[in-house]
Amino acid sequence: MKKEKLDQLLEKLSLEEKVGQLVQLGPMFFSEGGEITGPMQAMDMTKTELYQIGSVLGTHTKEEVKNIQSTYLEHSAHGIPLMFMADVIHGYETIFPIPLALASSFDPSIVKEMARLSAKEATSAGVHVTFSPMADLVRDPRWGRVLESNGEDPLLNATLIKAYVEGYQGDSLLNPETLAACVKHFIGYGEAEGGRDYNTVDISDLILYQNHLPAFKAAIDAGVKLVMTSFNTIRSIPATGNRWLLQDVLRRDLNFDGVIISDWASVHELINHRVAADKRDATFKAANAGVEIDMMTDNYQHHLVDLVKEGLISEEFINQAVMHVLQLKNDLGLFEAPYRSLDKHPEKEIIEVELRAESRRIASQSMVLLENQQAILPLQKEDQLALIGPLAESHDLLGAWSWIGKTEQSVTISEGLLSKTKQIEMVKDRHDYVKLKYVDKVIVALGEHSEETGEGGSKTEITLPQEQIDLLKEVYKWNQNIIVVLINGRPLDLTEIKMYSRAILEAWFPGSEAGNAIADVLYGDVNPSGKLPMSFPRSVGQVPLTYNMMSTGRAINEYNHTQKYVSKYLDNENTALYPFGYGLTYSNVKLSEVEVIDKGNNVTVNYTLINPSMLDAQEVVQLYVKDMVTEVARPERELKYFEKVFISAGASKKCSVNLTSEDIAYYHPDLTKKADDGTIELYLGLDSQAPLIGSWHYKA
Ligand code: NOJ
Repeated sequence: MKKEKLDQLLEKLSLEEKVGQLVQLGPMFFSEGGEITGPMQAMDMTKTELYQIGSVLGTHTKEEVKNIQSTYLEHSAHGIPLMFMADVIHGYETIFPIPLALASSFDPSIVKEMARLSAKEATSAGVHVTFSPMADLVRDPRWGRVLESNGEDPLLNATLIKAYVEGYQGDSLLNPETLAACVKHFIGYGEAEGGRDYNTVDISDLILYQNHLPAFKAAIDAGVKLVMTSFNTIRSIPATGNRWLLQDVLRRDLNFDGVIISDWASVHELINHRVAADKRDATFKAANAGVEIDMMTDNYQHHLVDLVKEGLISEEFINQAVMHVLQLKNDLGLFEAPYRSLDKHPEKEIIEVELRAESRRIASQSMVLLENQQAILPLQKEDQLALIGPLAESHDLLGAWSWIGKTEQSVTISEGLLSKTKQIEMVKDRHDYVKLKYVDKVIVALGEHSEETGEGGSKTEITLPQEQIDLLKEVYKWNQNIIVVLINGRPLDLTEIKMYSRAILEAWFPGSEAGNAIADVLYGDVNPSGKLPMSFPRSVGQVPLTYNMMSTGRAINEYNHTQKYVSKYLDNENTALYPFGYGLTYSNVKLSEVEVIDKGNNVTVNYTLINPSMLDAQEVVQLYVKDMVTEVARPERELKYFEKVFISAGASKKCSVNLTSEDIAYYHPDLTKKADDGTIELYLGLDSQAPLIGSWHYKA
């Protein structure tokens, strides 16, 4: 539809109809037959109001979408189709690894492919918009939602967020296999105090601009269609009612011109935050701030019209908001095809075959090998194995955002291993323990329950349960050739696990093909190549702990570490047990011939990677910088470049990277972003503890 037509359509709408476009409700509102009961009654909604709403969230099937859309179109006055939105976070029915695992791939092409495929499956069930990607930068593993993040580093986060948006949205949303993306949660949600979900957030403007905005900017620059506001406060005002945040930062500084949607009931929660007196006030605050769609409350529905009539909210705002919604429906081609591609999609079974294969590949690229003492891995064909642990035969492998995924259809670890070997003993209880003695290697499958992670999944302890640690110790008494496979959604304190294992494979929640992908990695059919996107602390007491902590006045070093008045703990080290960017391969890839060519306003680093092994490998090379003197305190080091490089068995490869002023520009106290002349230390390596390789004397 042409823009003039949209303008004409907007003109035809009454104020009530316009407000309706800004209301989003769940499918249950449409399942009440002729009677007004349940949710509609609870929200005091009339049928006329229902057939004016603009979008629906959380449908399950293609049939449900068809029914709702057709009933709606029969009743609605102007034939404006509904838009269907859902949380398609790491797959729809076929589940891929959780986002934190995808981030461990350090590979944007993996993320893009995951997003493209989940869009394909979700659109075949009638979804138009996904509430993904989550761009919240995270630093606290107690927060369950780290599972949905790309971890602690702004560059990795921004790079992968761009890949998500490109994967979901493709080249054109008119392609029926694409989804419009909604980046969330704007902003700072990942800094919830104490790692407690929905808790307050207090960060400086500098931290906001330097750390949190880049990923949202990356999404917006990649053309993301919606932004979701977060539950938390920023500058003490909840994001959903924060005019400075949504107008000055999002609309002006980030130049966002799409739809701004609230999070679930976050308009109403302005009352709980005690920044709004009642629903009408909450509506005023949210609309005045610029929130355009009210998700899952009746605040806009019942109060926005009056606020406009009384001149408190301008009709201009309403027109702009409705135009954003209509424009998005038009971008999706809904006016011409309200059922979009529902019937044109390939058969579900065909999609599933492709997605399952890719889910397996992607999962195997997302696992992180944390330990491999005396090269106990990869497993050899002739190895006699035992498998034990609460996750050995569990199907709880999908992760917290897999509401459409079928848990029972996931491949368990035991099924995956059995497809590769028959030489495996299943050790289920005490009576079987003696079997442990006679095998070559024992695989111990440990981890978290999916319910302990994700939204509302905050914890104060990040060790594994005591029963699991006791089990590991018991196995150790029988056989010390232990390989621990971990299924979990957050960085854990693995101090004790490390003491009793020779290998640790961090498999995260790997998704539908979990067991197969784990077996692929354990047997070396896939050489592990994942790296940690979040530091694993030695103790929950160190949290928040990231590789890019700020410089302090009393940093600990090799000379002063025994002194008392330095920044340290008395009962533990400062460092992570496994740092950001860390992960092993089976190949022991080496960096050599590192050369720094300082050209003043830019620098080139050349390096060679050598793969001495008999296996093809992928290594993630990482370049960190430390700006020696800056106007504001800055991180000890910051990642400025990473690349996952493929090196054939026995081969070497020459690579090169160039940094310019853009890479070292930072936000100054007046929030301008620029680089200062001066010395920048460069660190190149295979994790965030990379060694110093030289300096760059930057001069503009
Ligand atoms: C609340 C969550 O915070 C958000 O991420 C999600 O997209 C919405 N619910 C919709 O389900």
